[in-house]
Amino acid sequence: MEISLIPAGLDSWSGNVLIVGLIEGKTEEQLDAIDRRYDIQTKKVLTKLNFTPKLGKTSTFQLLEKSPEKLIFVGLGKQEDITLDDLRKAAASGARSSIGNIGSLGIIFPWEETGSDSVAGAIYEAVRLSLFKDVRFKSQVEPRLVPNKLELIGLSETRNTSISQVGPICAGVELAREMVSAPANSLTPSALAESAKDLANKYPLKALILEKEDCKKKGMGSYLAVCEGSDLAPKFIHLTYQPKGEIKRRLAIIGKGLTFDSGGYNLKVGAAQIELMKFDMGGSAAVIGAARAIGEICPQNTEVHFIVAACENMINGSAVHPGDIVTASNGKTIEINNTDAEGRLTLADALVYASKLKPDAIVDLATLTGACVIALGNEIAGLWTENNHLAEEIKNAAQEAGEGLWRMPFHNSYKEGLKSLLADLKNTGPRQGGSITAALFLKEFVDTSIPWAHIDIAGPVWTEKDTGINPAGATGYGVRTLVKWILK
Ligand code: BES
Ligand code: MN
Ligand code: ZN
Repeated sequence: MEISLIPAGLDSWSGNVLIVGLIEGKTEEQLDAIDRRYDIQTKKVLTKLNFTPKLGKTSTFQLLEKSPEKLIFVGLGKQEDITLDDLRKAAASGARSSIGNIGSLGIIFPWEETGSDSVAGAIYEAVRLSLFKDVRFKSQVEPRLVPNKLELIGLSETRNTSISQVGPICAGVELAREMVSAPANSLTPSALAESAKDLANKYPLKALILEKEDCKKKGMGSYLAVCEGSDLAPKFIHLTYQPKGEIKRRLAIIGKGLTFDSGGYNLKVGAAQIELMKFDMGGSAAVIGAARAIGEICPQNTEVHFIVAACENMINGSAVHPGDIVTASNGKTIEINNTDAEGRLTLADALVYASKLKPDAIVDLATLTGACVIALGNEIAGLWTENNHLAEEIKNAAQEAGEGLWRMPFHNSYKEGLKSLLADLKNTGPRQGGSITAALFLKEFVDTSIPWAHIDIAGPVWTEKDTGINPAGATGYGVRTLVKWILK
């Protein structure tokens, strides 16, 4: 999808679909202007329909042969309450109503009212991401009619946001969504490694894949314990982006990469929705999606390491037993009192590996705990860090990206719950505060001199219902926040 700005306004625009943002209390003048411009009577019709422009509500007029062929009114709510996020949501619902038409999609919003610098980029993201549909697994695909050009009418400058970054970022989100929705018989650890290698062929990224034997040599007993019961080989993926010229900042981002989590011998039963556990590589999808975007944007001065300890958590005669004791690559021994707390076992060795690179900061993303979903629901990820500066950076990036994120307490006394009779620590504590003990477990494997943040994305990785920008299914959560943070 291309984007352009039409500063001269509606009179000089002609295209296929027009989205008009309506403000509560101002609709009369807005509709009068539209009715005059196109010689139609939408005001009368909308009054009859009792249409009030509540945020995201739409009303569509088919005008058939004229330009525009389709006119979509979308509510923006009250003028004083409009935020950038509201414009995103409104643009997404408008874009959704444009499905069925091709060609150019014009959007006219009250741009001045939003006071935001990044409005053009945000709208572009919202429109493109809301129109995404994954048809890879259909045997027959009807041609999908959607606009392929976006024109922001009456917007004269892009202000801060460089629109050129939006395309690569959206491509990264789309890649992440495809990885997350791909089932476990399609997206295996090897497939994940192959897609990392593909990226390294297309973009200035370097791919290093560690095989099981390499990981054994590095003493990654915690990670390797998780894949013992699987027929599929683990793949430890390390992509590096190194800019030309001076390097001022070095970052490592780690994603949990469980291509399937059966729970192991602590098998997922009952309401655990085992069939959804293909999404347990959502962290790694965000990391690889971000690599895709960074590889195309090629920012200066920042080196980035993208790390995934990919594997499957399955059951067979060699699978790890509940109660087994393993040794991670930093020498710490872990009693695996629950085989379903496998993500943290893979992340432990990935965090040790990342720490050895001595980056300026480490961020991990993981679909780590159901407890985090209970705490924050499906639209908000949990953030744990003891570094206030890093917390601010990541919160700002998430805010800019329009991705929900909430800082959670790193309550050290809960570490008590991870005490093991025999080993240095257990991998799970009590049910209460389960996402906090998970974060505390991870902390044991990070070099504490390096600022580190953990993001639990178990909630927002997937959405059952359409939320406008995120069609039902995989959301690609995290890509936008990560990229915005890296580009800071
Ligand atoms: N992948 C799950 C976490 C998860 C659960 C993500 C539900 C999304 C929805 C993780 O590996 C897991 O099984 N965690 C356990 C930890 C428990 C055994 C301490 C959980 O949350 O139940
Ligand atoms: Mn699990
Ligand atoms: Zn898991």
